[in-house]
Amino acid sequence: MFAQTFFLLLVLPAFSIASPTAGIRTRQAITALSTAQIEAYKPYTYYASAGYCSPSTTINWSCGANCQANPSFIPVASGGDGDSVQFWFVGYDPTLNSVIVSHQGTDSSEILPLITDAEFELKSISSTLFPGVSSSVEVHDGFGKDQAQTATAILAAVEQALSAHSTTAITTTGHSLGAALSLLDAFYLSLQLPSVTVNFIGYGLPRVGNQAFANLIDSKLPNLSHVNNKEDVVPILPGEFLGFVHPSGEMHIMDNNAWVACPGQDNDSDECSTGDVPTIFEGDSSDHDGPYDGVEMGC
Ligand SMILES: *[C@@H]1O[C@H](CO)[C@@H](O)[C@H](O)[C@H]1NC(C)=O
Ligand SMILES: *[C@@H]1O[C@H](CO)[C@@H](O)[C@H](O)[C@H]1NC(C)=O
Ligand SMILES: *[C@@H]1O[C@H](CO)[C@@H](O)[C@H](O)[C@H]1NC(C)=O
Repeated sequence: MFAQTFFLLLVLPAFSIASPTAGIRTRQAITALSTAQIEAYKPYTYYASAGYCSPSTTINWSCGANCQANPSFIPVASGGDGDSVQFWFVGYDPTLNSVIVSHQGTDSSEILPLITDAEFELKSISSTLFPGVSSSVEVHDGFGKDQAQTATAILAAVEQALSAHSTTAITTTGHSLGAALSLLDAFYLSLQLPSVTVNFIGYGLPRVGNQAFANLIDSKLPNLSHVNNKEDVVPILPGEFLGFVHPSGEMHIMDNNAWVACPGQDNDSDECSTGDVPTIFEGDSSDHDGPYDGVEMGC
């Protein structure tokens, strides 16, 4: 059960050590998002939340307010068992004119009671699923293993959705563990379907891979967003001292509910997660599920 591995992310100490080898850095300022920019995230926030729905309710698209918030959604396929395989779904949103891919996450009430000695490490990304990617590109082995379980089924569903709805856009989304899986899916789909525009919008994303991974994600998915809520601890884990680095694209929700765009990877300004939550002891796991502009994650 992956949740056990995921728990270890929480119990490890997280020291805020700025990586001297950090690759892509920008000189942009931290900027506040406008109300309209924040509102543009809303449909994706609901799709991330809907990742928690079981396949049957997703197919029928009726498992509570967060699923029904995108009423024009056209489901294409879904799967997972909510246990060894996180639920997932693929469909099409006519308003966004994008194929949507979402994975179920884990809420903090599921994560916190679990104490195990499960281990994880950075491992080279799968050369089967990610052909041509250097073995220096490493990801959390639990995330990599979980993403591999559903990758080809999701690719087939995405190809079906693309041809049925004549769009060339895919957005992957998810919360928590679901965000990690959907970030890997976005990278996977961008390699498998090079003529399609792929983007990722995730919430409460833990660190997924190493510096080489973060740099490659920055170049392949230059417009991605990972939204972090206040003092959530998950985004600062696993710790940078273990070699993990976030890609760019953090949006941080401040204590006053303003959203700011944080330039660079793991921006250590106290307006951004890495700087605001230097250790897990300064974090608040109850911020993990939201609210993200009013939306609490879950089904
Ligand atoms: C969808 O809902 C209908 C009516 O409630 C039900 O008969 C059907 O089995 C459901 N489909 C799935 C895939 O669960
Ligand atoms: C980049 O992402 C933002 C937020 O998801 C979106 O509003 C915008 O249209 C995207 N821009 C491009 C060029 O894809
Ligand atoms: C963090 O943001 C500031 C802008 O306030 C920028 O100058 C700095 O380079 C960024 N840091 C990183 C690590 O990207």
